Amino acid sequence: MTLEFVESMKNLKVRNDDVFLVTYPKSGTIWTQQILSLITSEGHRNGTEKINTNERVPWLEFPQLNENIDHNSRPSPRMFVSHLSEAFVPRELKNKKGKVIYVMRNPKDVMKSFYHFQDIAVLAEKSPNFDHFFEKFLDGEVYAGKWFDHVRGWYTHKNDYNILFLKYEDMIKDLRSTVKKVCSFLGIKLDDEAMDIVVKKASFKEMKNDPLANKDNMPEDLIDKKLGSFMRKGQVGDWKNLMTVAQNETFDKIFQEKMGDLSLNFTWQ
Ligand code: PPS
Repeated sequence: MTLEFVESMKNLKVRNDDVFLVTYPKSGTIWTQQILSLITSEGHRNGTEKINTNERVPWLEFPQLNENIDHNSRPSPRMFVSHLSEAFVPRELKNKKGKVIYVMRNPKDVMKSFYHFQDIAVLAEKSPNFDHFFEKFLDGEVYAGKWFDHVRGWYTHKNDYNILFLKYEDMIKDLRSTVKKVCSFLGIKLDDEAMDIVVKKASFKEMKNDPLANKDNMPEDLIDKKLGSFMRKGQVGDWKNLMTVAQNETFDKIFQEKMGDLSLNFTWQ
């Protein structure tokens, strides 16, 4: 990703049937990419899904992950995935052209997932221990910047967009309802049988065993599979296995200061 490329994407011509999936890292990106492609392509539900997830739902800002894709010449309907902050996405989205699906996850679990992701992400700057990473995460010195700013930016500008908010924890609790919500947002009708297949193929168990969901096809200079797996635990509350009581108190205080005015209720465990 270059700043120049991101700047150019601000001027991307948005089409009415475009769908942009936006997340802060480690919030359920690959999961929702999988759901979107299962919902929108009958073929993927019927066993032809062995196509790289990034080809099915290409990255807006990482052309190198899609062989220098030219978004302008892609046929409709287009889907995109992005970690960009609200200020950096194509401006035309603000005219309520296209649709945005924003997935958020409780930030303590985001932090834990991010911390482990550093092990396998070859280019990531490694933290020697969690104490170090905790400070880095709070300071936004990780890819995609501060979680607080990312979520606040999208949430407070929600009226500018045609946007559906999803929460990772709700997806864990009731995946079927989430899939139904997404279908209704996209104006897609699935019969019960198709819905069963989507829910099954988007389950953690199925995706954990799917080499594409695990990014096994990513080059070794990006993901080192020997050191861990991308589909790690897929749980709510795993942060409790890492954060100390003091760190948790510090985090709660900062969360309250930065997000307390927003009506965002997260499930923490
Ligand atoms: S990334 O690198 O930003 O694209 O990562 P992202 O895909 O957003 O997040 C990875 C975490 O999502 C979990 N995951 C799932 N959880 C439950 N069910 C399903 N189907 C699923 N698919 C992905 C994945 O395991 C990572 O979370 P952790 O906590 O590390 O396990």
